Amino acid sequence: MSDAFHPNGDEQGDGQRRRRVATDGGAFAYDTSERLGRVEPSATLAIGNRAAELEADGVDVVDLSVGEPDFDTPENVVEAGKAALDAGHTGYTSSNGVPELKRAIAEKLRGDGIDADAEEVIVTPGGKQALYETVQALVDPGDEVVLLDPAWVSYEPMVKLAGGETTHVDTAPSFQLAPALDDLRAAVTEETALLIVNTPSNPTGAVYSDDALAGVRDIAVENDVPVVSDEIYEQITYGVEQTSLGSLDGMTDRTVTINGFSKAYSMTGWRLGYLHATGDLVGEAGKLHSHSVSCATNFVQRAGIEALRNTEEAVTEMVEAFEQRRDLVVDLLADAGVELAVPDGAFYAMIPVDDDDQAWSERAIDEAHVATVPGNAFGAPGYARISYAASEQRLREAVDRLIEHDLL
Ligand SMILES: Cc1ncc(COP(=O)(O)O)c(C=O)c1O
Repeated sequence: MSDAFHPNGDEQGDGQRRRRVATDGGAFAYDTSERLGRVEPSATLAIGNRAAELEADGVDVVDLSVGEPDFDTPENVVEAGKAALDAGHTGYTSSNGVPELKRAIAEKLRGDGIDADAEEVIVTPGGKQALYETVQALVDPGDEVVLLDPAWVSYEPMVKLAGGETTHVDTAPSFQLAPALDDLRAAVTEETALLIVNTPSNPTGAVYSDDALAGVRDIAVENDVPVVSDEIYEQITYGVEQTSLGSLDGMTDRTVTINGFSKAYSMTGWRLGYLHATGDLVGEAGKLHSHSVSCATNFVQRAGIEALRNTEEAVTEMVEAFEQRRDLVVDLLADAGVELAVPDGAFYAMIPVDDDDQAWSERAIDEAHVATVPGNAFGAPGYARISYAASEQRLREAVDRLIEHDLL
């Protein structure tokens, strides 16, 4: 607390919130919540900010830190958004989403083998909000949530914001789930409130096998634990198919399926995603949804219907381009003597780095002007994550620069 302020009221540390009052005419200081003190800002965004600072100084940065496709949103989806604006779809929608979009989402999920009904869907401003609502709905203070490391940067902060604790099961160095199933079995107990699974994975690009997912099913059923299945990269796979956890026997009623439009349709800035769950969860999460975001943006939801129905060709083209870039990155790194766990999905790769990954990433951006994310942000020290959602020319340049600065 600043010296310029003193607590207004009892100073015995009784845990009561007290407003801080200026004593010497200084500026007001917010007494922010203990809850927010538990988390740090997103590490990926922090690197992005450093890249933006360098760029503002005129430095040419190859930014491989960002988690978004470098393609335009498909033209027909943009047109559908514009048409929705012209048609006056600018008011609130039903809190859980436009019925036609919820129906289209349920239809898509049924295609993935999940017995979904439109009323079991909440349409959210991004998959991130769907995850946040789910964690808030299922995690109480002191609850334990099991994560598979390396894990996406926001799971742990979401759990901490709900007052929960995380237990981590490491999948390095293969990043596959099958070899980690014994550790997962040991980590999940009847005390576990939630297990979070993300396939294809950010940051590793691993796509978990059907056998491994069946193993997750057995562990979840034995311990009567619900599972969040984050399937946001589901369409971006190379030569393998991703299976929805909620489609496995015994899993529909204990799986919250999360998905969104950001990655598959290159719609990150539109902010559109969803959750699917059976039972009470939609009602409970829906309370938070209605008291926080109200609804996802009306005309964006209309564009989402077009994205679900008429983008097959555009998605195929993007995925083919990502696959070529994946191959290029793997080859370039192999030529530089770096062996990778070859990713089968998403658009990320984990580069093993010898020294401290934080120091490596800082040198990469400050000296080579290549932005990456240090592995510790994902619970994977000793690695740096790159996104290969960049042009082939920029990817070559990045690897050349890293070699030039002795980082590879
Ligand atoms: C694993 C994972 N889940 C969820 C999200 C959320 O994406 P959005 O909120 O853009 O739908 C992301 C975005 O980076 C992600 O990588």
